[in-house]
Amino acid sequence: MEQSSVLRENKDLLILGIESSCDETAAAVIKGGRTVLSNVISSQIDIHTLYGGVVPEIASRKHTERINQVIREALSDAGAALKDIDAIAVTYGPGLVGALLVGVAEAKAISFATGIDLVGVHHIEGHICANYIEHKDLEPPFLSLVVSGGHTHLVNVADYGVYEILGRTRDDAAGEAFDKVARAIGLGYPGGPKIDKVAKEGNPDAIAFPRAKVAASVYDFSFSGLKSAVLNYLNSCEMKGESIVVPDVAASFQKAVVDVLVENSMMACAERSCRKFALAGGVASNSALRAAMEEACRAGGIDFYVPSPVYCTDNAAMIAVAGYYEYCKGVRSDLTLNAVPNLPLGER
Ligand code: KG4
Ligand code: ZN
Repeated sequence: MEQSSVLRENKDLLILGIESSCDETAAAVIKGGRTVLSNVISSQIDIHTLYGGVVPEIASRKHTERINQVIREALSDAGAALKDIDAIAVTYGPGLVGALLVGVAEAKAISFATGIDLVGVHHIEGHICANYIEHKDLEPPFLSLVVSGGHTHLVNVADYGVYEILGRTRDDAAGEAFDKVARAIGLGYPGGPKIDKVAKEGNPDAIAFPRAKVAASVYDFSFSGLKSAVLNYLNSCEMKGESIVVPDVAASFQKAVVDVLVENSMMACAERSCRKFALAGGVASNSALRAAMEEACRAGGIDFYVPSPVYCTDNAAMIAVAGYYEYCKGVRSDLTLNAVPNLPLGER
């Protein structure tokens, strides 16, 4: 991949974004980096729900079946044709390798056939850049917490495309913990939105679940102990013949996650004298997390940013936005672009 570091913006640029890293087949067209002309998301949730989680092989097949139609729809909703597109931005990692490959192969095929420039995008960078869509004033530097089904990263966004990871999860991602606990309390897949909903009826202080600290690194997270604590609580209730109050378990678990996410984020903001904070990723659509983070930022005099829920969970608009900034910095991918399931943030 080629790149220079000078950002040369062009507000007329049209970027076609393609996302297929997990169970959403998505395409979008973005103008000038921050204006969404179309945003098409074909979710596979119904199919994976039957199995209680994402089945990678099924995800790849469904992407293959749907991707052409999703791209056609994104172009037609935007009133654009391929000849109008300046660059194709595609997620090439991290994610499920078979799923990623569908988007990458599609983007390369279109680029090869039309000569349109190709830009490989990091999925987490996409999540962070989702904040630029509705917050036109937001510019780096700022701190961002990316909480998704696969990642929990506290990131210093030093500049467009320049990322420093301050903290990350040592085990489960925040979204993964939501999904596993939801399954254990019988809410099914996908767990995050279901816990969010049922927790509204529960008491967040009903059960004292642990707030894990990682001694070696103050900004790191750990959620596997919390998950085990919930499972132990459920087992002990069963052994004692006590019934479980699902909303209380959901609300208490959710509060334990939110407390740690907010505490580490605010500590990083304070220690780095950061005045801008942006939440991102699928778990950023959680109502309790949004409210608690907004309140903590307000108390700390920090400007708080979060995308609308539709731009928090996987979508291609965020990939097109990230692709725009990479493209404007001179990044171009060639036809050797490949899916990289464990792609580290900030590396090309
Ligand atoms: O960002 P995303 O769509 O996909 C990945 O990149 O992983 O995030 C999906 C994750 C899932 O674990 C899902 O349960 C969680 O985000 N999630 C939520 C909510 N909506 C989605 N977690 C908590 N509360 C929500 N409202
Ligand atoms: Zn994601």
